Amino acid sequence: MVTRAFINGKKIFLRPVELEDAEFLAFCLNSPDIRPTFFTNFPTNASRQTELIRNLYKDSREYVPFIICEKKQGQAVGITAFHRMDLVSRTAIYSIIIPEKKNWDKGYGTEATRLMVAYGFDVLNLNRIQLHVSALNTRGIKVYENVGFVKEGLLRQAMYHNDEYCDFYVMAILRQEYYQRKEK
Ligand SMILES: CC(C)(COP(=O)(O)OP(=O)(O)OC[C@H]1O[C@@H](n2cnc3c(N)ncnc32)[C@H](O)[C@@H]1OP(=O)(O)O)[C@@H](O)C(=O)NCCC(=O)NCCS
Repeated sequence: MVTRAFINGKKIFLRPVELEDAEFLAFCLNSPDIRPTFFTNFPTNASRQTELIRNLYKDSREYVPFIICEKKQGQAVGITAFHRMDLVSRTAIYSIIIPEKKNWDKGYGTEATRLMVAYGFDVLNLNRIQLHVSALNTRGIKVYENVGFVKEGLLRQAMYHNDEYCDFYVMAILRQEYYQRKEK
């Protein structure tokens, strides 16, 4: 597979999803380490991911996923995406998964989120990027706040995991906030 960066960062780059990534996507979505924060309750497999990958980037501009790769070896360390991109309202929902704990706290999540936010505003001309995050996901909230997302509201008992219902924050960053931060 020829690996081509679509967006280049310092520690990581973002590249399109290829058919060969099916196993990695299944690995990300099945990872027990992300279940408490990403609520992936049902298994998937490489065959299902292959089917989905075949239809990526075709007609729809609603779902725009990337593989996050670390720059030293070019290894895939996560996935990030815009979902439900609406080119009339100019909004998108943001997601990120770094499946292995050994790759957490290395700055990859913050850099990937910064790169996606810049892509969303500077390239795709979005006006608002939104996400939902478990109130217990303090690492994720820290990353999003560091990049400029603000908490807008709380969805009470939005998801269930491990014998408890978890509240979720709605967080978002607006175009004007992004450019104000960029000027500083
Ligand atoms: C959430 C996630 C994307 C963060 O990515 P990451 O690469 O680990 O994050 P980074 O290393 O860039 O930054 C982590 C930040 O959280 C801080 N942090 C680490 N552990 C923390 C904790 N338990 N509570 C609060 N902050 C914490 C770090 O100090 C760092 O902040 P700083 O840059 O101000 O020092 C990643 O851990 C992940 O994919 N987790 C599983 C799936 C998930 O939760 N996805 C998001 C769902 S909304």
